[in-house]
Amino acid sequence: MSSTRVAIIGLGRMGSTIDDEVADYPVFVLPYSIAGACVASEKLELVAGADLLPEKRQAFTERWGVKATYEDFREMIERESPDMVCICTKGVNHSELTIAVAGLGVPMIFCEKAMACSMAEADAAKAAIENAGARFLTGVLRRWKTSYQEARERIVAGDIGEPRRAIHFAQTNLLHGHVHSIDTLMFLLGDPKAVSLWGELHPRDLKFENGRLESDPTSIYQIAFEGGIEATTIQSGNWDFEIHGTEGVVRIANNGAHLSIRKRLDYSPKFKPYVETHLPPPLLPRSATVQMLEDLADAHAESRQTAGDIEQVHHCTEILFAIAECHHLGLHRHTLPVQNRDLYVFHV
Ligand SMILES: NC(=O)c1ccc[n+]([C@@H]2O[C@H](COP(=O)([O-])OP(=O)(O)OC[C@H]3O[C@@H](n4cnc5c(N)ncnc54)[C@H](O)[C@@H]3O)[C@@H](O)[C@H]2O)c1
Repeated sequence: MSSTRVAIIGLGRMGSTIDDEVADYPVFVLPYSIAGACVASEKLELVAGADLLPEKRQAFTERWGVKATYEDFREMIERESPDMVCICTKGVNHSELTIAVAGLGVPMIFCEKAMACSMAEADAAKAAIENAGARFLTGVLRRWKTSYQEARERIVAGDIGEPRRAIHFAQTNLLHGHVHSIDTLMFLLGDPKAVSLWGELHPRDLKFENGRLESDPTSIYQIAFEGGIEATTIQSGNWDFEIHGTEGVVRIANNGAHLSIRKRLDYSPKFKPYVETHLPPPLLPRSATVQMLEDLADAHAESRQTAGDIEQVHHCTEILFAIAECHHLGLHRHTLPVQNRDLYVFHV
């Protein structure tokens, strides 16, 4: 199979340099950056980069040996005809870039989260991707991390019985962080659809001005998924996740570093203690960014959807904006879909 030619828009941390920040943290299997992942993968070839800032373009060329750099991403796509474009920008609306890149005929698009700042924007980006027939992913990396994949496999294999409750532990912002927490809970549960939810933004007296929030607030939620599964978040912890089933609990602790299973022992009708087993780390941990981009390339080659396709990303975004709408209207409970497609929360 010939390699997939990749171009990056936004040559900052995620696009190029983030490995320097996380090299000392064993929880991150490098390469983490998009450029590093392209260089590490035999399936991908890094061919070009675009950034508004000349110093970023120069640093990118020096670091990765890629001479084809551009100020204007449109010119880059027209001249280089990449197979895959990775949008890693800050300070510009991700949905607008996604629509522009899809409109230029790029068949594989990776766009950093969050995909949009309103449901109207998310709807437009989804339509553009579907009309172009492009394959799509966002940077919800836990889907491609080995510890979360093993946890999901154990849940599917029935190790904890029927999943009933799911909990995320960490304090984080709605669009920047809960896009990860909710996507991960959904991934672990086999991607069920949310039916209704309650949520609020913090501080509790936060008010939208003309339907807009110009910053990304912290938030909490309680989500009801189809099949009767309930999920919530606790504003404490270190990006830990628990899935509680009828016969046990899967726990992923310390941002994916530790995985354990608590099995319920059936000694007697009244005495059913949990016994915890800590699972060893994977022998061959792989970079989640490499796995993610290779999934995008393979999905295109095999005419299938990615493990985090546009339908999934759009639904996760719908949940985030339902939380915002719940707070905005002071609702006791919100049944999806979101009614106010223009409700706006700033991100990046
Ligand atoms: N998934 C993850 O784990 C993860 C980690 C870090 C960052 N991110 C995401 O990556 C995105 C970028 O964050 P960052 O920390 O790398 O930002 P950054 O500021 O380090 O880099 C962004 C770059 O985009 C460039 N840029 C902005 N508008 C542009 C345009 N129109 N054309 C070309 N270049 C443009 C800027 O000049 C800048 O160099 C954000 O959405 C952030 O949430 C994700």
